[in-house]
Amino acid sequence: MQIDLNNIKVFIEEDYDKLSKKCAEVIKAQMNSKPDSNIGFATGGTPVGTYKELIRMNAEKEVDFSGITAFNLDEYYPILKSDSQSYDYFMKDNLFNHVNIKKDRLFIPNGEAKDVDLECEEYEKHVMSAGVDLQILGLGLNGHIGFNEPESVFTGKTHHVNLDESTINANARFFNSYEEVPKSALTMGIKTIMMAKKILIMISGENKAEIAEKIFFGDITPFVPASVLQLHPDVTAVLDKEAGSRIMKRI
Ligand code: F6R
Repeated sequence: MQIDLNNIKVFIEEDYDKLSKKCAEVIKAQMNSKPDSNIGFATGGTPVGTYKELIRMNAEKEVDFSGITAFNLDEYYPILKSDSQSYDYFMKDNLFNHVNIKKDRLFIPNGEAKDVDLECEEYEKHVMSAGVDLQILGLGLNGHIGFNEPESVFTGKTHHVNLDESTINANARFFNSYEEVPKSALTMGIKTIMMAKKILIMISGENKAEIAEKIFFGDITPFVPASVLQLHPDVTAVLDKEAGSRIMKRI
């Protein structure tokens, strides 16, 4: 089912598997129409199925990563790239090691940087000078995009951020204990994200239904960072039925 909500093309898919296939189709369309696309990638649980589908498509020669440049949204800080919890590791493990992307075309904020402010400044310059054609996003339970937590300014560039209690709790599922979850991160800012030509946001699961309703129907406010997407000219949102349940009641 497809609907237009406040300037955003919204697809509500039957289940997570269909959501993943739909998102992979959107990314494939971008890659096929511009084989040297700059794509902004996200980590987290939601895109894993999409990345699996892209790996399949690449193996079956439906998509070609050889001209693609990747810019990741965010990274924990501080963290070693070799740490299995780093987003550097996640991206290689879940996508980059399994497709024909060039290893020198992978850019992820450096969780090992000594000078964190310099790292953010340089990453921002790099992203802005290249220009992102398609930015992939997930949605935090508190409405965050990247690690732009509630009350982040809409003019924000790549920066170092302390994570919200709710984000640390949500991410604890990937760690042995709460104590092990990094408490800060480097993230593209909201302005960096909004400068992408196109945005694809994927939202899955019943626990995201309330925040999903807010970003499409609520006010545009820094208290709900993803609500800013209503101001972007080319956003596609793909939800599964669980995440879209409250939206469906409204239409
Ligand atoms: C990850 C990121 C985060 C996640 C969000 C949703 O790179 O930037 O904003 O997209 O926390 O995470 P999941 O998909 O695990 O629910």
